[in-house]
Amino acid sequence: MIQININQSLIVQHWEYILPIFLVILGVFYFKKLKAFKSPREENVKSNKLDGEEYVGADYKDDEDIDEYTPALEESEHIPFKGASITLPGGAEAFYEIVNNRRSIRSFSNKTIPFEIIETCIKAAGTSPSGAHTEPWTFCVISDPSIKTQVREIIEAEEYLNYTQRMHRQWTADLKPLHTDHIKEYLTEAPYLILIFKQIYGFKPNGGRKQHYYNEISVSIATGILLCALQAAGLSSLVTTPLNCGPALRNLLNRPQNEKLLVLLPVGYASEDCKVPNLKRKPVEDILVTY
Ligand SMILES: Cc1cc2nc3c(=O)[nH]c(=O)nc-3n(C[C@H](O)[C@H](O)[C@H](O)COP(=O)(O)O)c2cc1C
Repeated sequence: MIQININQSLIVQHWEYILPIFLVILGVFYFKKLKAFKSPREENVKSNKLDGEEYVGADYKDDEDIDEYTPALEESEHIPFKGASITLPGGAEAFYEIVNNRRSIRSFSNKTIPFEIIETCIKAAGTSPSGAHTEPWTFCVISDPSIKTQVREIIEAEEYLNYTQRMHRQWTADLKPLHTDHIKEYLTEAPYLILIFKQIYGFKPNGGRKQHYYNEISVSIATGILLCALQAAGLSSLVTTPLNCGPALRNLLNRPQNEKLLVLLPVGYASEDCKVPNLKRKPVEDILVTY
């Protein structure tokens, strides 16, 4: 049997050194635990999931050196606001009539349109709400025929590959009723092309990156407002998403790396012989659920 002489044990002999070391190790252990407790967000970030859903903000890394973050948006006085005071005569019903009259067109007249109308429509789009008021959009308006031609060349070359090689046959089948193909005459016919870029991040005054939360949703809402404004101005357009053309179009227009093309809208009046598919919209009973 092994006998341990307690009085001669190393631990007992050197307890005055060993005890503080033990307490320090214990302290570090609990400090780390406490830190983790303070930041449950970090736990979610690790798993990247929240109730099985992607954790929004998971890609925003904590900066260990920063104790308190400065808001990107400058602090401003909160002023009284009485709610909507400029309204459309006829209200919601009139607005519905206007937007229900919108159709995507793929054949444009070359009738000129004062630039100021386009500018006002973009001003309207710029009133859109955006994540943390980051306003993560850039609207590039092209009227120069030579640039329109270059845009068309880029898109038609890429769309040829999309239609013939890249898109699933189900996808091309789904597009058949719309009579679309890789030839995009509207890109040179329409008086204006509006290329809408989402800024996936912005810049702080010190040059550092600024987070643009929900940038795609924000720019999509702005695009919706733009479509309504164009419609209210009697103009027509077409939402297009030129597949795999973003980088080439961004280079053509010398846009920076933080901007990604979201949609391209040709804008103008419908041509004399313009035709659209006779699409039916879902009745309100199918899209509205009440509780
Ligand atoms: C996100 C989005 C992407 C679209 N992309 C294209 C496109 O690349 N080419 C095209 O001809 N139409 C495109 N469209 C237009 C749709 O085909 C059109 O909105 C749909 O057929 C309904 O027709 P309407 O706009 O006349 O109501 C797109 C529409 C949306 C909202």
